[in-house]
Amino acid sequence: MRPVAIAIDGPAASGKSTVGQALAERLGCLYFDTGVMYRAVTWAALDRSIAVEDEAAVTTLAEALDIEVTEATVDDGRQYTVLADGVDVTWAIRKRAVDVNVSPVSTYAGVRRALVAQQRRVAAGRAVVMVGRDIGTVVLPDADLKIYLDATVEERARRRWRQLRERGKAADWQEVLDMMRRRDRIDSSRDVAPLRAAEDAVVLDTTTLSVEEVVDEAERLVRARVCP
Ligand code: CDP
Repeated sequence: MRPVAIAIDGPAASGKSTVGQALAERLGCLYFDTGVMYRAVTWAALDRSIAVEDEAAVTTLAEALDIEVTEATVDDGRQYTVLADGVDVTWAIRKRAVDVNVSPVSTYAGVRRALVAQQRRVAAGRAVVMVGRDIGTVVLPDADLKIYLDATVEERARRRWRQLRERGKAADWQEVLDMMRRRDRIDSSRDVAPLRAAEDAVVLDTTTLSVEEVVDEAERLVRARVCP
C-alpha cells in the first residue's frame, strides 16, 4: 500500500499549520508546510535586492535556491528550522516585508513550477500531512484525504494579531485585517493554482471551533476514510 497523503489547504491563519502539525504528530508522519518555501523565496529576493516585480529574476532565484526544512534546531518556539542556501531563515520569513510580498511572488507560474516539483519529491514514498493553498488541487491531486480549513476573515485576523503579540510584535488589528484581505484577494484570484477547495475536499469552518476540536475532527476523518 502506498503511504498516506493528507492535504490541508485554506486561507491565511485558518489554522492549517497548527492543525497540520498536531495531526501529523497523532498519525506519526511527516508534517510539511509548503508556505515556508514561498516565504523563503520572497525573503531571498528581498535579501539579495532582487525586485519582487521582476518575475524572470525571481523565477531564476526560485529554481536555484536550496530550501531545507528540518526538525527544530533551536528551542525558541519554532515548529521546524528553515534553511535557505544554508542560512537559518526560520524567523526572518515571518517578517512583515515577507508578509507583504509573498502573495505577489506566489502568483509567478515559474516559481510555482519549481516549488511544486520539490514538494512532490518531499511527499513521494512517505506518509505526509502537507499544508498550503494548492495541495489538494495541484500538488497532490490524488491525496487520500483533502481538508479545506476556513474561518471568517475577522476571526483569522484576530488569530494572526494574537500570534504576533505572543511573539512580542506590536500589531494593529485593522492593519492585520487589511493585509489579510489583500492576501486573500491575491491568492484567490491568481491565474495559476488559485486558492480554492478541491471538489473532493472536506470543508471545515473553524470560526467557532478550538484547535483541539479541529484536530479531533481531522483525525476522525482520517480514521473514517483513510486508515481505520
Ligand atoms: O501562514 P500563512 O497562512 O499566513 O501563510 P503561508 O501558509 O505561510 O503562505 C504564505 C503565502 O504563500 C500565501 O499567502 C500564498 O500566497 C503562498 N502559498 C501558495 O501560493 N501556495 C502554497 N501551497 C502555500 C503558500
